[in-house]
Amino acid sequence: MDNLTVIVLAAGGGTRMKSKTMKVLHPVCGRSMIGHVLRAVQAVEPTRVVAVVGNQREQVGPHITDLVPDAVLAVQETQEGTGHAVRVAVEAAGTTTGTVLVAAGDTPMLEGESLRAFAAEHEAAQRAVSILSGRVPDPFGYGRILRNDEGDVEAIVEEKDATPQQREISEVSAGIFAFDAAFLVEALPRISNDNAKGEYYLTDMVHLAREAGLTVGAHVLDDVTQAEGANDRAQLAELGRLMNQRIVTRWMQEGVTVMDPATTWIDADVVLERDVTILPGTQLLGATIVHEDAVVGPDTTLKDCEVGVGARVVRTHGELAVVGESATVGPFAYLRPGTQLGTQGKIGTFVETKNAVIGDGAKVPHLSYVGDAEIGEGTNIGAGTIFANYDGVAKHRTTVGRHAKTGSNNTFVAPVAIGDGAGTAGGTVVRRDVPPGALAVSSAPQRNLEGWVESRRAGTAQAEAAAAARAAGESQESHDA
Ligand code: UD1
Ligand code: CA
Repeated sequence: MDNLTVIVLAAGGGTRMKSKTMKVLHPVCGRSMIGHVLRAVQAVEPTRVVAVVGNQREQVGPHITDLVPDAVLAVQETQEGTGHAVRVAVEAAGTTTGTVLVAAGDTPMLEGESLRAFAAEHEAAQRAVSILSGRVPDPFGYGRILRNDEGDVEAIVEEKDATPQQREISEVSAGIFAFDAAFLVEALPRISNDNAKGEYYLTDMVHLAREAGLTVGAHVLDDVTQAEGANDRAQLAELGRLMNQRIVTRWMQEGVTVMDPATTWIDADVVLERDVTILPGTQLLGATIVHEDAVVGPDTTLKDCEVGVGARVVRTHGELAVVGESATVGPFAYLRPGTQLGTQGKIGTFVETKNAVIGDGAKVPHLSYVGDAEIGEGTNIGAGTIFANYDGVAKHRTTVGRHAKTGSNNTFVAPVAIGDGAGTAGGTVVRRDVPPGALAVSSAPQRNLEGWVESRRAGTAQAEAAAAARAAGESQESHDA
């Protein structure tokens, strides 16, 4: 197609969403609705893309040009309907020849291949207008396709203008059109706003073409979900479910095992390698990548994370974290941004990490907080260790060398460095650097105040237990004597 203009409509307020966020910016599987539409539009290799913006155009405009840098933004100051929006776009495009495709910004399920086939069919049939339609189970809210006895498309009638009989029609307009540009430019000014909503409906172009004796055709989608739009939160959730189903199915076809597709959520931009296994209750979000043979889940959420070959991530919440090859994480781990776990490393149970580079084979197995830290290869961090990175004003770093063994219940007060092969005793509070190979011990020698409980806690169960143990010990001693 050598002269193809695509107009994408994104100026409406989306009042039915009842949201601070513009409708077309609401995400479906991690990508905005308009992002999905623009992705499909790229597949037809358009000569130019014109996006109509209006409501919150300070947010919507830059979002569109981020995705399609050479898109022309046409501003529709007041939202007087889809026909009016297209008129604004045609003025901004400054072109009156070739084919014009119009897509709505709120139909994210539409696939590039369908759009391409639709545009090709329109051009081959040399029609004035082509519409994309589908038969949906619940046509409420959509424009209904009216056909005559020969089956030819006569008009589209909007929900609010339809008679009760017309409302029974299940064939609906997806809101996607192809026009001969010359007809579009000539007829647009003739659309009236004499209807239930008082808006200029683009759908009236069908009727105007028929009146002029021109050809109109419909391309009926086999997969009707592609025609579905989201006007409210319930439809948004439904499209999210459908899109997720599509994505999960695609990854299964690519060789990923998904134990429970219904409770697995995968964003549109996630990448999975073959023989990855996803267990129930798992969400893989954003730009997450999972490499071959890794197992993720159950009950895990990873956003913008990378999971290495053969790694295992169980009941974990992670964001902007990298898990090395054959490493293990969880159950019940919290990986915050900047976490990097080396090959065969371990972040275990009830461990939180942030800005933490943990070396190959290094382990933080239990009940710890590791913030602003670097841990060398082969090092083992004892259970219940806190990297105290915050002095109340600023954050500081802790480094632990290679093959160090630190004791349980330690506190590392940053900034501090523990050398290669060093050790720390249980309960140590490390405030000064520990040289390589040294053992740090900071706790005071233990004192036992004999008889303290019986004298200070007389009459309690604790004192009774102590007295009984002492009596048993004394009789044992006399027996031994
Ligand atoms: C529209 C169609 C309906 C079709 C349905 C498919 C019309 C009159 N109705 O209804 O036939 O079945 O889509 O989902 O076309 N917009 C603007 N400027 C405006 C008005 C709307 O840019 O002045 C944009 C909106 O942001 C949206 C798109 O056009 O992206 C469609 O508008 P919307 O209000 O969602 O139309 P529907 O009621 O869904
Ligand atoms: Ca809509």
